[in-house]
Amino acid sequence: MEFFRVYGRVLGLLRDERKLAITLAFANVAVAALQFYEPVLLGRVVDLLSNAQRRSTTDLWHAAKQLLVIWAVVGIGGIGANIIVSLQADRMAHRRRLGAMATYFEHVLALPFAFHNAQHSGRLLKIMLTGVDHLFGIWLSFFRENLATFVALFIMLPLSIFMNWQLAALLIVLIIFFAVANAFVVGKTDRLQAQVEEYHSELAGRAGDALGNIHLIQSFVRLGAEAGAIQGIIRRTLEAQYPVLNWWALLSVLTRAASTITVILIFVLGTWLYTQGQATAGEIVSFMGFATMLIGRMDQASGFVSRVFFQMPALADFFRVLDHQSTVIDRPGGKDIGRARGDIDFEDVSFSYDGLRPALQHFTLHVPAGKTVAFVGPTGAGKSTALSLLHRMWDPQSGIIRVDGMDHRDIKLSSLRRNIGVVFQDSTMFYRSIADNLRIGKPDATQAEIEAAARLAEAHDFIMSQPHGYDTLVGERGTTLSGGERQRLAIARALLKDPPILILDEATSALDAVTEARIQKALKALMAGRTTFVIAHRLSTIRDADQVVVLEHGKMAEHGTYAELIERGGVFSSLVATQRAGIESA
Ligand SMILES: Nc1ncnc2c1ncn2[C@@H]1O[C@H](COP(=O)(O)OP(=O)(O)OP(=O)(O)O)[C@@H](O)[C@H]1O
Ligand SMILES: [Mg+2]
Repeated sequence: MEFFRVYGRVLGLLRDERKLAITLAFANVAVAALQFYEPVLLGRVVDLLSNAQRRSTTDLWHAAKQLLVIWAVVGIGGIGANIIVSLQADRMAHRRRLGAMATYFEHVLALPFAFHNAQHSGRLLKIMLTGVDHLFGIWLSFFRENLATFVALFIMLPLSIFMNWQLAALLIVLIIFFAVANAFVVGKTDRLQAQVEEYHSELAGRAGDALGNIHLIQSFVRLGAEAGAIQGIIRRTLEAQYPVLNWWALLSVLTRAASTITVILIFVLGTWLYTQGQATAGEIVSFMGFATMLIGRMDQASGFVSRVFFQMPALADFFRVLDHQSTVIDRPGGKDIGRARGDIDFEDVSFSYDGLRPALQHFTLHVPAGKTVAFVGPTGAGKSTALSLLHRMWDPQSGIIRVDGMDHRDIKLSSLRRNIGVVFQDSTMFYRSIADNLRIGKPDATQAEIEAAARLAEAHDFIMSQPHGYDTLVGERGTTLSGGERQRLAIARALLKDPPILILDEATSALDAVTEARIQKALKALMAGRTTFVIAHRLSTIRDADQVVVLEHGKMAEHGTYAELIERGGVFSSLVATQRAGIESA
């Protein structure tokens, strides 16, 4: 059953501290057993007192003292052990909660674009935070309550049969009722609750999306619409949640009533058994104690089941993300190639994002180490796609990409990506200082190295004009910088990384002509001796490329040097002619 599978898996996450967990479990079982001994002692007190007339005072005191000593040992021992055990259990639960968060986080960061494209980051964050909170709650309940319930069910209940089987039968009927009623309500409501959880995730995704696009919302005056959309999801969430709550409220009422009736029945049946001489007063008191304790346990268990039941869809989401296997996987035995020479081959590579529309078809290209190749073509032609395959943001459906003659999937992912520097069309930044953002390229870079790279990328001057220079905090995703400033930082970052293979995807598209001309110098320096892929719409910037590839609809339409292609008078030459005409008429 789904419930036990998830429960087992949650407890399984404690395996990193297996020894401590098992010790705590045993200690808790002992504590619970001690607790259940109290009703027995109470029963013995009652029996002692009801036979008091027939015993001498000294005899009576002697027996009472014995009982009191046992009681003190049981009580104090139980309390002491309980404090130590719960303290340790709490600490472990806190440790494992943060541990689970770290595991989730690392796992999600390593998942490929294909996964992240289909998920909103707000939703992923919500799944992580809710998931680990639920894990934490279940671990604590396991040590604090569930084990005691276990003891009650599997040790105390069988023992009570030996004490008095008729009274025990009443308890057993009650427990069966609890189990059946719980199972029934779970069956009635589980699909609804999954729907509720789906709405909660949608809420998180939608809110995260709105917060991330605050400028869009304000400039398009979408405030009312966005708030309305959130309200709509909230309404649907509640509409789905209410019927579930009704069922659980009904269950709670029924089980309470059943418990009260059982206690009354025990009292009635007990009195009758007493009058028949089949039970002592002490036994009946013990039993009443047992029954209240057991009912308390069952109440707690029922509460626990309903809580976990409400949390199950969120936990299932959490585990689903954890179970998501990367499609871009490090092959076992992947090689660390150190610094690559940079010889690149695309061999008949085909790729589609959705498996339906091709984004790149039968693409073959050889780029010798240290050479520059320019990709041109209309928007959506597949230029960025071809290069994202090179650094394995995705893996092609067919064909091979080789780096220095080696299938790049046989190279360790980290080793491959360390060899490739990318400056994107739209460079994003971390919400950290400028220096920290640059250091992404080289974590151990000195301030002097950082400044040298920034100077080369024409970024030093604007950085110095920021309020705190290199220590200025960059807004989320770099929003406090202009597009051109972000691009220059991205170029500086790539300079620091110093990779043998470079991808410049519209790296200068956001710069004005003057800054671009200045940066071209820096880019030339950056490209020297590296295999470079340049994607540029401004064709004047690729004149010096060793080869030009023209892509159209994911296919290579033309291929040659700039001069060759102009001479051929095909697609490329007409592209160049159009741009020139555009500039002249402007
Ligand atoms: N992450 C993605 N998921 C699904 N489809 C995508 C994704 N990225 C791009 N595409 C699609 O793949 C095709 C090629 O896109 P690509 O980004 O490679 O074009 P491009 O040549 O770089 O265009 P541009 O010059 O506008 O940057 C387009 O039809 C695009 O809609
Ligand atoms: Mg592109």
